[in-house]
Amino acid sequence: MNIVTVKDYTALSEKAARFVADRVNGKKELVLGLPTGSTPEGMYAKLVKLYREQKVDFSEVVSFNLDEYCGLRSDHPQSYHYYMNRNFFDHVNISEENRHIPIHSEYYEDESCSRYDQLIDRAGGIDLQVLGIGTNGHIAFNEPADYLIGGTHLVQLSEKTIEANSRFFNSRAEVPRRAITMGMATIMHAAEILLLAAGKNKARAIEKACSGVITTQLPASLLQLHNNCTLLLDREAASLL
Ligand code: GLP
Repeated sequence: MNIVTVKDYTALSEKAARFVADRVNGKKELVLGLPTGSTPEGMYAKLVKLYREQKVDFSEVVSFNLDEYCGLRSDHPQSYHYYMNRNFFDHVNISEENRHIPIHSEYYEDESCSRYDQLIDRAGGIDLQVLGIGTNGHIAFNEPADYLIGGTHLVQLSEKTIEANSRFFNSRAEVPRRAITMGMATIMHAAEILLLAAGKNKARAIEKACSGVITTQLPASLLQLHNNCTLLLDREAASLL
């Protein structure tokens, strides 16, 4: 893994945006895997700025988001659909038919998962996957477990993730208990991975993800098996390395 450390969150957001813009400008019809969470917000803001300055053009990009909560309407302010529109899609020129976010359907659960995988396959797989990381080492919503699932699937969120994500909701009780997520195989098949982590509360997960030990109990540790993966960290997230 390449580890790049920058001084703070602003520098991380700037560098991440330039990294993504480079790849977008470097390949026609780039297939871009996109994350949510508080960490990439700064990157999206800088990408929007680069777009307004005409330094990047998303018109041919095909995007696939990592995950979405089950049971939230797409116009719910905490849904990842809403997040993506507010932070990114409303401000750049990725065409609507080229944006994909997994959707949980109560009636067609298996179909909604396999259809998402088919769409990614048909697009030719992911060229650049941008990731965040949970404090428990989760990637997308692939939670620590005895085994991990390769393709898109439904997942029961861990207590730690519910706790961590409750800061975005009025109360812990409002946090959805289930989510739909891209699986670890799809993520690991991406040609290139860029993981972003900022802040002290990510330092332990980053330390474990780089320790040389690979375990499904820390999904981010699997990234050590990837041959083109960059961890972009601020000083605090890198403080235990
Ligand atoms: C959520 C998302 C992950 C994200 C993680 C960390 O659980 N499903 O994709 O990486 O949160 O989020 P944050 O950047 O807010 O710490």
